[in-house]
Amino acid sequence: MRKPVIAGNWKMYKLVSESVETALELKSLVANASHCEVVIAPVFTALKTVCDRLEGSNIRVAAQNCSTEIAHSAHTGEICADMLKDVGCSYVIIGHSERRQFYGETDLSVNQKTKSALNFGLTAIVCVGEMLSERESGRERDVVKMQLTRGLNGLTANDMARIIIAYEPVWAIGTGKTATPEQAQEMHGFIREVLTEIHSKSTADATRILYGGSVKPENIATLMSQQDVDGALVGGASLDAKSFSKIVNYK
Ligand code: PGA
Repeated sequence: MRKPVIAGNWKMYKLVSESVETALELKSLVANASHCEVVIAPVFTALKTVCDRLEGSNIRVAAQNCSTEIAHSAHTGEICADMLKDVGCSYVIIGHSERRQFYGETDLSVNQKTKSALNFGLTAIVCVGEMLSERESGRERDVVKMQLTRGLNGLTANDMARIIIAYEPVWAIGTGKTATPEQAQEMHGFIREVLTEIHSKSTADATRILYGGSVKPENIATLMSQQDVDGALVGGASLDAKSFSKIVNYK
């Protein structure tokens, strides 16, 4: 009942021409993928061109961040969520750990950005996940629960229909060290429990929870076989169309 989502986060890679090249190659490789939603997140500067070139395809486009502000205003360097919608995006990634670690993203800004994204009809992919030290000290559940509680504060069950959670343990991102399918399942199951506490079992059951952190063509199938893993947020392995298409076509 939960349609899987396979999303590629291109981070700060690819010029416009390279983004278009990868997107078009991917378009034909995943043309028959109806079992999941396919999403790519190019850099801001490539969004408009990529969205235009993918029109009519089954690939949706995400931005990697948006402003906390909902009104066009004097905020140098920021991009309002409706501007993303304007160029053709339908998703936005919010609170990625790299933004939390290096750009001062907090649970409060994640919350504001999520509200802003929903306000303009975008689907928000909200990222949570613990650092290695937090896992080593046995605090991973507390950390993720806090990120969810604060990040989703004030959002209604209705809003949750346009929110996707991405669990990305920071120690697994770009390290080649994937969480085991059991570790992923354990945390995803816990996230669903937290969503049940915040909302209800039916809302929790309907929410897609993606796993992220060194997902590759070789490990996607076992991750997807876990009952609470509803897709993946893929970094490195999404930069190459062939490798990302193998992840999309994991079945
Ligand atoms: P990775 O990145 O697949 O390269 O580990 C995942 C992410 O940062 O979303």
